[in-house]
Amino acid sequence: MAERDIAAVDITWPHQANFGPGAIAAIGKRMRALGANRVLLASDAGVAAAGLVERVAGLLRAVGLHVAIDTGVSPNPREAEVEAILALWEAEGCDAIVALGGGSTIDAVKGACLRRFTGRSLDSLFDEGIQESPCEPLRFVAVPTTSGTGSETTLGAVLKTPRRKLVLRSEHLRPALTILDPELVVSLPPRATAATGFDVLMHALGVLTSNRPHPIGEMVGAEAMRLAAAHLPRAVEDGRDIEARSAMMLASYLAGHGITLKGVDAIHGLSTPVESLTDCTHADSLAVICPHVMRFNLPAAGGRYARIARMIGVAAEGEPDMTAAERLMAHLTGLRDRFGMPSRLGALGVQPSMIPELARQAQLSAATHGNARPLDAAAASALYEEMV
Ligand SMILES: [Fe+2]
Repeated sequence: MAERDIAAVDITWPHQANFGPGAIAAIGKRMRALGANRVLLASDAGVAAAGLVERVAGLLRAVGLHVAIDTGVSPNPREAEVEAILALWEAEGCDAIVALGGGSTIDAVKGACLRRFTGRSLDSLFDEGIQESPCEPLRFVAVPTTSGTGSETTLGAVLKTPRRKLVLRSEHLRPALTILDPELVVSLPPRATAATGFDVLMHALGVLTSNRPHPIGEMVGAEAMRLAAAHLPRAVEDGRDIEARSAMMLASYLAGHGITLKGVDAIHGLSTPVESLTDCTHADSLAVICPHVMRFNLPAAGGRYARIARMIGVAAEGEPDMTAAERLMAHLTGLRDRFGMPSRLGALGVQPSMIPELARQAQLSAATHGNARPLDAAAASALYEEMV
């Protein structure tokens, strides 16, 4: 699907993952195999209320591991929450950390890992980048309880300080192990299932249209798109549909690999600044931005959109590319509306006066630079104007 010649690529299948209903049962044995003795289990209040924190803590204690628990992560993880995880990690002398939750929890734990092995503030990491390596084994295990973020396998963490929200990347941020157990997702409500699943669609779309060629990125992006398009409506409709939950969990994971290999597009590039300046959720911001960036991209990515439309069965084989691309846009917008997601940035708290800063921050994003059609600050401003 790549439209540019591939001159050279590095191919390394990244890490260990255990997938399957019930996979969580072996977490104690697997933590032992990593050499863990004292585990910090980080999560959030919702996951704790669902009983999952106590269940996982019990599985860890059953093999003799010491367990310290932090359930203080919020939906848009902030610096203070990262600091709280780090403080407990050090106070309890932990030698391993498990992130049990959605992307927010996994990213907060990644932030704590970065703080621990660099000793620097998040703002300084934003400003100066990350050159440091861990001086101890980083026994970081991700156990997603949503299917959306991709953070369970990516090298990135989206974190917010009082100054801004940004993506931090380090090769040391990929979990040593990811446990993908679709049974952990069955109690996720329909609205959250839709929101996280829409993020998967946006990751797959971004991977398949980004301007960085990579053959394996294309493959995993296409499979993520195929799985998510077919199974997201089912997972929203019936959360106990374990086949749909399994497909979405794999789609999220595969799309995450695709992001590492190919990056994403300006849908994410324009979204991070909105999340930085307001308290909106990632998915709500993506939902507004998606059709606007797709329309902007039509001259450069229309053919790729058309191939995706045919692949997921929303356009016929013989239809012209632009017709098929329009069908993909209509399909994604239709899903957004059916899921009750917003269509204007104004509904998320964006004011017209914020647009210059939004456009400036969008240029800081690697995703913006990976967009199929070059998108400078003036183009970003024009898009934000039409979305407010
Ligand atoms: Fe995302």
